[in-house]
Amino acid sequence: MAEAYATRHPQDIVALAIQEFSPRLAISFSGAEDVALIDMASKIGGKFRVFTLDTGRLHTETCQFIEEVREHYGINIEAFFPQPEAVEKLVREKGLFSFYRDGHKECCGIRKVEPLRRALASLDAWVTGQRRDQMANWTSKQVWAYIRENNVPFNPLHERGFVSIGCEPCTRAILPGQHEREGRWWWEEETQKECGLHAGNTHAQ
Ligand code: ADX
Ligand code: SF4
Repeated sequence: MAEAYATRHPQDIVALAIQEFSPRLAISFSGAEDVALIDMASKIGGKFRVFTLDTGRLHTETCQFIEEVREHYGINIEAFFPQPEAVEKLVREKGLFSFYRDGHKECCGIRKVEPLRRALASLDAWVTGQRRDQMANWTSKQVWAYIRENNVPFNPLHERGFVSIGCEPCTRAILPGQHEREGRWWWEEETQKECGLHAGNTHAQ
């Protein structure tokens, strides 16, 4: 089946996933162009869940956009928050910007990866926004063509030079021609730029 679907349109893959795994399937939504997945799933129909990891450090625009998407599609968006004790300990011991000094793994571990594990614990299937330039079938260009052609709402930060959007202190706008990952954790080495959401998180279940 994986072979047969390797080249199929993402909509077909999402439809198959819903058919096979509903209702124990969820789309994770970061408030960026992964909104395309919500649009596709809404049009396909069937029961699917949507969750977001509210790190406490998202842009105001992203919070507003998540709310806009909730209303636009009439869906619940399950917010997962970090464990308060863990955030309190980190911030009390190291301040609010420890990631600029110590690297982002510790903060991402507390604010994203641990909540993600809790979110995934009740699921059989996880739909996550990774593209061919990251992993799956579509390029960024195809995602944006889909968003425009289908009048899908998008995060206004995209109009201000933000390509890849994550937490506010760890995301910046980029110049034309720069790689999108240069807008994320720019003070760190190229090889460190995976936040841990997609590497290893499932092994630790
Ligand atoms: S990251 O690994 O660099 O942080 P990226 O921003 O590329 O991730 O987003 C890729 C996918 O990871 C998103 O489409 C989404 O499925 C998931 N993701 C990233 N951040 C979040 C978040 N805050 N809440 C929910 N899902 C997220
Ligand atoms: Fe913390 Fe930055 Fe990771 Fe957000 S992206 S969880 S602020 S280190």
